[in-house]
Amino acid sequence: MVIMKLLLLLVFFYSVLTASAQSPATAPSPSSAPTDIIRILKKAGGFATLIRLLKTTQVYTQIDSQLLNSNNGMTFFAPTDNAFASLKPGFLNSLNDQQKNELLQFHLLPTFVAISNFDTLSNPVRTQAGDDAERLALNVTSYGNQVNMTTGIVNTTVGGTVYSDNQLVVYQLDQVLLPRDFFVPKPPPPAPSPAKAKTSKKKSADVLAPQADDSAALSLKQRNGVLVIIAVAAAAFLL
Ligand SMILES: *[C@@H]1O[C@H](CO)[C@@H](O)[C@H](O)[C@H]1NC(C)=O
Ligand SMILES: *[C@@H]1O[C@H](CO)[C@@H](O)[C@H](O)[C@H]1NC(C)=O
Ligand SMILES: *[C@@H]1O[C@H](CO)[C@@H](O)[C@H](O)[C@H]1NC(C)=O
Repeated sequence: MVIMKLLLLLVFFYSVLTASAQSPATAPSPSSAPTDIIRILKKAGGFATLIRLLKTTQVYTQIDSQLLNSNNGMTFFAPTDNAFASLKPGFLNSLNDQQKNELLQFHLLPTFVAISNFDTLSNPVRTQAGDDAERLALNVTSYGNQVNMTTGIVNTTVGGTVYSDNQLVVYQLDQVLLPRDFFVPKPPPPAPSPAKAKTSKKKSADVLAPQADDSAALSLKQRNGVLVIIAVAAAAFLL
């Protein structure tokens, strides 16, 4: 009888252990994200510059983990290689790391917007670069599947859907969305002399990438914790 109980206990522990050992592999984690933006763009082709930019800024990891941790999905406006090639020569290289990050965030919306739903957004649309209506405005007008956008610097039209699942939609753009922030001088800080403030042309991006939280990893730990508690309770019951 005691041997039977021990055997049962062993079988039970074995199944609990394999269940918890398997869960990290099947549960989503940042390193094995279900959505991989780089892979999507590589597969689509024609986005080499964008891929390089996503990698040097590490924004691709932010996108993948944001998708993992958000229920709202994301919209990504993806400028093609031609779009980057039509920028003023040297423009991209003239941006500092913060501005490169801001440029990418400006192409991201923290919600999934289907092509037929752009008319539900109100202008200016809030991108992940921030909500400064003067410097970071992105205005959208749409009719059916035609979506026009303006930043005040660039006018363009959504060129088609590169990728869509139930969480992420990637639209092709034939122009890079340049925010006014890159072109208008920063408003002068409260200065005693207006003449002095006018000469200040220093630009700086003060927008930080939103940080994705670790709730997925936490819930996984909690789940393993619960399994252990169940095992201990079962053991106590059987003995
Ligand atoms: C989008 O822009 C094109 C070209 O400027 C224009 O003909 C069209 O009417 C615009 N569509 C919308 C929905 O604003
Ligand atoms: C965007 O739309 C807002 C609200 O309609 C308007 O005030 C603003 O001037 C527009 N900006 C651009 C760049 O079109
Ligand atoms: C963008 O479109 C607006 C309104 O149609 C126009 O006034 C502006 O000159 C255009 N800007 C560019 C850069 O083409």
